[in-house]
Amino acid sequence: MVKFVGAGPGDPDLITVKGQKALHEADVVLYTGSLVPKELLTWCKDGCIIENSADMDYEDIFTFIKEHGHKKFVRLHTGDSSIFSTTAKQVEFLREENIDFEVIPGVTAAFAAAASVGIEYTIPGVSQTLIISRVEGRTPNPENLRQLLSNKNSSFAFYLSITLIKKLRETAYELGYSKDTPCWVVEKASWPEEMSYKGTIDDIQDQVSHIKGVALILFGDYLHQNATVESHLYAKTYKKEGEKTSKAL
Ligand SMILES: C[S@@+](CC[C@H](N)C(=O)[O-])C[C@H]1O[C@@H](n2cnc3c(N)ncnc32)[C@H](O)[C@@H]1O
Repeated sequence: MVKFVGAGPGDPDLITVKGQKALHEADVVLYTGSLVPKELLTWCKDGCIIENSADMDYEDIFTFIKEHGHKKFVRLHTGDSSIFSTTAKQVEFLREENIDFEVIPGVTAAFAAAASVGIEYTIPGVSQTLIISRVEGRTPNPENLRQLLSNKNSSFAFYLSITLIKKLRETAYELGYSKDTPCWVVEKASWPEEMSYKGTIDDIQDQVSHIKGVALILFGDYLHQNATVESHLYAKTYKKEGEKTSKAL
């Protein structure tokens, strides 16, 4: 049985209880490299085989899983294993090999970044849609940036894009975004050395040009956090309606 476990964004306390239990019990752990908090690996029992997959290619990973997949095997991914994690290819392999698997979710970087800067992605009247994506660089994105940004009433969280802010800015201008549209960067969200940078699409690049690695770009008017309509959620009238409906049911 292979358990994919989301390690969370960096703070070891942000793994789930279920993920922690899987690590305690594991005979073998294959983790995805430097972004996985090392403290998590200290929870493994004596004798647990612990390997870093950072220098492995798919064939190496598959060979390793085939060799150890009949044991209590944890495949430890940063954040959540459903976001930019190559899980799909590994799952395809496990299905072909008839190896059982389970997925234990984790806290993805977008949620850790929102927590770091204290924002909500869904603001009534401004944005009810969160778009998690990347700015196309060497890796192609079938949804090109113009198409993505044409969803002007959405909240954007861009992974793997910190060196591509210029492209984000130019495309935003082409689509008529104003220069003062908020653009924030959260570097190493939830790590002890976490930093956040709050600017606009016009000036953010100057603030973050030194960052080469682990950072998330947040972009859009939702960052003002000003609702333009009332939320129904805690409105008295809406609650009464809800109560009536549930009683009727
Ligand atoms: C290969 S992706 C893995 C994403 C991961 N599966 C997740 O759910 O967060 C790595 C990218 O995620 C983002 N990232 C991961 N952890 C982060 C953190 N703690 N703070 C900010 N960005 C992070 C960065 O954009 C980084 O380049």
